[in-house]
Amino acid sequence: MTLLRTPRLTLRRWREDDLEPMAAIHADPEVMRWIGDGSVQDREQTAACLAAWEREWEERGVGPFAAECRQSRRLAGMVGLSVPDFLPEILPAVEIGWRLGRPFWGHGLATEAAHAVLDFALRDRGLARVVSVHAVGDTASEGVVRKLGMRRERETTHPACGVPLRVHVIEARS
Ligand SMILES: CC(C)(COP(=O)(O)OP(=O)(O)OC[C@H]1O[C@@H](n2cnc3c(N)ncnc32)[C@H](O)[C@@H]1OP(=O)(O)O)[C@@H](O)C(=O)NCCC(=O)NCCS
Repeated sequence: MTLLRTPRLTLRRWREDDLEPMAAIHADPEVMRWIGDGSVQDREQTAACLAAWEREWEERGVGPFAAECRQSRRLAGMVGLSVPDFLPEILPAVEIGWRLGRPFWGHGLATEAAHAVLDFALRDRGLARVVSVHAVGDTASEGVVRKLGMRRERETTHPACGVPLRVHVIEARS
């Protein structure tokens, strides 16, 4: 079982009791504003999403982590890795992503979790590079990639929904 610990978070695989809190996160339009076409997701879509995230772990050995607050044991959201199949022009690639519930924003939690996930990807899993893809205008994600020291690689457009996207990259130190 893959598990990472940061000062304030446990990053772990998904459990059945994550469905309710993650569905609440996915039902918040502010959270979903910069994700895909900006639509919220209902409980059923969230269940499918959690199943897909667990499948990524099983099939690829990397995946999105459930980010749980160590003190309160509350689910803060998702931070982790996935293959950006939606953007064929950058494949092969592994993407780092983040999605926290609104009460958890603005405390440096995404950056804290993402540092641990990058270390896991580049050192533990031995990946040569990790990308980040976010919508142009998503200043919160722009802040996280800046803090992580990722470098801007290109701008492109989401093939399915036409949203302008920015791709950042970080390479393993040799
Ligand atoms: C993106 C997200 C994960 C950031 O989480 P967070 O824990 O608030 O981020 P951090 O606190 O680690 O912030 C990292 C940097 O970005 C800056 N930042 C965070 N949110 C910001 C915002 N809304 N506007 C401007 N800057 C912001 C922070 O100030 C910080 O830099 P600083 O320490 O120099 O001030 C969170 O806003 C979120 O879940 N949003 C909804 C989902 C989403 O859009 N995901 C990305 C889709 S690709």
